[in-house]
Amino acid sequence: MWRYRSVLPEATPVSLGEGWTPMLPSKRYPHAFIKEEGANPTGSFKARGLALAVTMASHYGLKALAIPSAGNAAGALAAYAAAAGIEAHIFMPKDVPFANYLEATMYGANVTLVDGLISDCGRIVAERKEKEGWFDISTLKEPFRIEGKKTMGYELVEQLDWEYPDAVFYPTGGGVGLIGMWKAFAELEALGWVKPGRRPKMIAVQSSGCAPIVRAFEQGEKASQMWPNAATFASGLRVPKPYGDYLMLEILRESGGLALAFPDEQIFSSLKDWAGDEGILLSPEGATSTLAYEHLLRTGFLKPEDRVVLFNTGAGLKYTDVIAEAAGLQRPV
Ligand SMILES: Cc1ncc(COP(=O)(O)O)c(C=O)c1O
Repeated sequence: MWRYRSVLPEATPVSLGEGWTPMLPSKRYPHAFIKEEGANPTGSFKARGLALAVTMASHYGLKALAIPSAGNAAGALAAYAAAAGIEAHIFMPKDVPFANYLEATMYGANVTLVDGLISDCGRIVAERKEKEGWFDISTLKEPFRIEGKKTMGYELVEQLDWEYPDAVFYPTGGGVGLIGMWKAFAELEALGWVKPGRRPKMIAVQSSGCAPIVRAFEQGEKASQMWPNAATFASGLRVPKPYGDYLMLEILRESGGLALAFPDEQIFSSLKDWAGDEGILLSPEGATSTLAYEHLLRTGFLKPEDRVVLFNTGAGLKYTDVIAEAAGLQRPV
């Protein structure tokens, strides 16, 4: 990721080898590429934002960081905080994938499992941070996580020989990756690093069990409403009221993109299909990208010759318990 250090804040990196993830061509769709973010340290794209946020926290001499998380950001913070010798205080839903609990614990973070969603975790951090002396590292409440995530935009353009794809599919929870990539595109244009062309259509994908962005997009709203009883096996997408919703909605519309939601059963079918047919074990979040792509080919919104990037934001192997449950799999006795 630090190959882009000239467009990142100046500081000595706290690095675990994040970024420059594979851009895998699909076997079946010659113009579709999987951006394999599961190859990052801690197995998700959250490594990028937290590598930079912890780098800057270390640069400014912060001693204790707190985070509300859907799971993967917690694991990433815990790892980078351990590498930097900074305390991490983590609040995440009690039913996160077990790997998120395990990694945060092994990295030595202070972990609190909350009977609620990321929004409840955010409330707890906000209530306690002042008294405890924690710096709140929630997305979009500090400036650096988005800077780390914007490197996905630089990277996908560089990996496509400095040309924009026609569309980018992004599994959307808080939407920070999407906002970061859009910022990267503006910077690439200002620097003259991208061949002139139309920016990609940005496609935000959610689960029907938690689709506040899709509902706001379809209803022509500027911001989203809190999604009641949010539930999906794609735990990273369980964000009932994203903080940066208005930015995301603006980007989707400006890019000529879309917001789409699908039921978990269909998402799981796509996960299984891409594992068996392409050899790629997607995360449930990543499988929303592949499902949405195939849907938009069927509707004619995209043509088979359109070049697209499908984000797999996390490694399928972080979800062994979640995928086993969806597949009805148990270890044979
Ligand atoms: C694997 C995965 N994909 C996607 C997301 C959503 O990311 P964003 O908040 O950038 O929309 C998350 C967030 O936790 C995640 O863990």
